[in-house]
Amino acid sequence: MAPTIHRLALLGFGPVGRSFSEILSEKYQQVEARYGLRLQIVAAVDRTGGAVDEAGLDPAALVAAKRAGGLCQYPVRGRDGLTGTECLSVTEVDTVLEATSVNMQDGEPGMSYVKQALSAGRNVVMANKGPLVLAYRDVSELAKSNGVSLKFSATLGGSMPTYNLGVRDLAGCTIERVEAVLNSTSHYILCRMNLGDTYEEALAEAQRIEIAERDPTLDVEGWDATNKMVILANSVLNTPTTLADVSRTGITHLSEADLPMTMLATAEKTNSGYRLAVAPVRLPEDHPLATLDPLSMSAIFYTDLIGPMMITVNERGPRPTAAAMLRDVIEIAGGSV
Ligand SMILES: NC(=O)c1ccc[n+]([C@@H]2O[C@H](COP(=O)([O-])OP(=O)(O)OC[C@H]3O[C@@H](n4cnc5c(N)ncnc54)[C@H](OP(=O)(O)O)[C@@H]3O)[C@@H](O)[C@H]2O)c1
Repeated sequence: MAPTIHRLALLGFGPVGRSFSEILSEKYQQVEARYGLRLQIVAAVDRTGGAVDEAGLDPAALVAAKRAGGLCQYPVRGRDGLTGTECLSVTEVDTVLEATSVNMQDGEPGMSYVKQALSAGRNVVMANKGPLVLAYRDVSELAKSNGVSLKFSATLGGSMPTYNLGVRDLAGCTIERVEAVLNSTSHYILCRMNLGDTYEEALAEAQRIEIAERDPTLDVEGWDATNKMVILANSVLNTPTTLADVSRTGITHLSEADLPMTMLATAEKTNSGYRLAVAPVRLPEDHPLATLDPLSMSAIFYTDLIGPMMITVNERGPRPTAAAMLRDVIEIAGGSV
């Protein structure tokens, strides 16, 4: 049977967008053979510009163009200053992949890209949390009213299938409690502090192995985990939630006497919804998250019908996040197995 052609626009070509292209160039034939899908990137942009080709861009050539200075360098089709907005209005695509930089002020440029794509009847797969945290309801209603799919399994802990487990595999269960390590940077730093490092020493080591930014505020003050909790509460727990609904405490104020602790995101079912928090917590020694590997993330769902169910990932770098975008694309495109 002829494969189904599924056209993609890739907005953002940082570590995640580039990894997605690399994975596609490696697995193109495997995806076609296994799922009957021919995935074609027909448009891609970064801040330099981009390229559009209805016949499909070469993912390996996109990576090479990026190495040469930016996607505007793509052979023949590359255009200086091409924006996501322009490329969405000139290209017929089935699914838009949104992997631009996170911006927690107004969500741009991702917010406009996602709204434009959904309004035009395109499916959207997001790695960028910003638009979901700031406007979950607007964005998800826009997807519904246009009859298209909005998927974002990459936003809840890299490749960790938090969304798929919570929504699909626990269908029918009441989720009574969630305990999760959703931010690998703060988890790693706290694990080292538990072993005797000062905060400064642990942060320096996290920066050395490139899991902490030069400015680590978003991670160590709990913002990143709080963002994920907002998405998780809205989507998995079906509870309208904004940043103001999550109690947030960082790890920068801890003293030696407070330790050992684990940076935990929790949701506790109450009579009226869920109590949501992100904070360092002293866990019992035998708690599975108390001994979680320093480079892992994990989530435990406590349910009425199944009991607790735990997932863990141990990932470095952007590739697993790009893999999560690929699984969303395959699901949207209806890849048959
Ligand atoms: N890295 C991870 O492991 C990970 C995990 C989960 C989620 N995420 C999220 O996934 C998204 C992508 O991650 P990343 O690490 O690749 O981010 P990044 O390093 O910030 O790269 C973002 C990309 O977006 C492009 N971009 C920014 N503003 C743009 C604009 N106005 N128009 C067109 N392109 C624009 C950048 O262009 P230039 O290249 O020209 O600067 C870059 O290619 C982020 O929102 C991030 O928070 C990342």
